[in-house]
Amino acid sequence: MVFGLGWVEGAKRGAAVEAIRLVRDGFIVGLGSGSTVAYAIAELGRRVRSEGLHVLGVPTSFQALELAVRHGIPLTTLHEHPELDLAIDGADQVDSRLNLIKGLGAALTREKVVAASAKLFVVVVDERKLVETLGGGVPVPVEVLPFAVPLVMRRLGELGLKAAVRTAGKGKVGPVITDNGNVILDIKVDAVEEPAKLDKQLKQIPGVIETGLFVDMADIVYVGGREGVRKIERGRKVEKGWTDAD
Ligand code: 5RP
Repeated sequence: MVFGLGWVEGAKRGAAVEAIRLVRDGFIVGLGSGSTVAYAIAELGRRVRSEGLHVLGVPTSFQALELAVRHGIPLTTLHEHPELDLAIDGADQVDSRLNLIKGLGAALTREKVVAASAKLFVVVVDERKLVETLGGGVPVPVEVLPFAVPLVMRRLGELGLKAAVRTAGKGKVGPVITDNGNVILDIKVDAVEEPAKLDKQLKQIPGVIETGLFVDMADIVYVGGREGVRKIERGRKVEKGWTDAD
């Protein structure tokens, strides 16, 4: 546990540091986005410098790319390395089945592609993110082609869902534009009882590029809390081709 940062920052950092312990020499690592993963990227950089660890990172966003460069982590692409040993990312909510809502940082599409490219997908959160059922206080984000926004809004309405285009607030008028040049619609759902069903329904709408529902993807979740870090595991690492020296 790290003191002096307030418990939330200490919890985020604790979870991130645990996740980075999984990284071995020669690994290709997917680098997620957000404030929790920022600690993981810093820790990976520290290991590269102090242990001479050879790794290559695949960033999921402009933010992750800049952080990796700043911390001295060499980068590669999915074209050069289509299969990653590990991907580490944060989440906005984690339910009891390890399904996630991601995308409050608007990087959900690349995050999902990178996570799906990895033998092991590891999530790092603080304990405020744990819920029994997804939804409620956190919207389900979807990345949408700007041209398709009217159609997507209409189809969401037909499904009985309310959504709003995410706006940038301070620093820019108008919508948040993703690293892919698209917009984000935030869908209000009180309780996502069947995440796989909703994910499928949303992806069937023309113009929806990706959703922030990460269903059955996370293998390990490190949860930082006031008392330390807890590991929750799905236990199908071998199935996905992951070999662990531990
Ligand atoms: C970005 C994400 C982030 O992983 C998610 O928003 C968590 O961020 P943070 O660790 O800052 O709470 O999905 O698209």
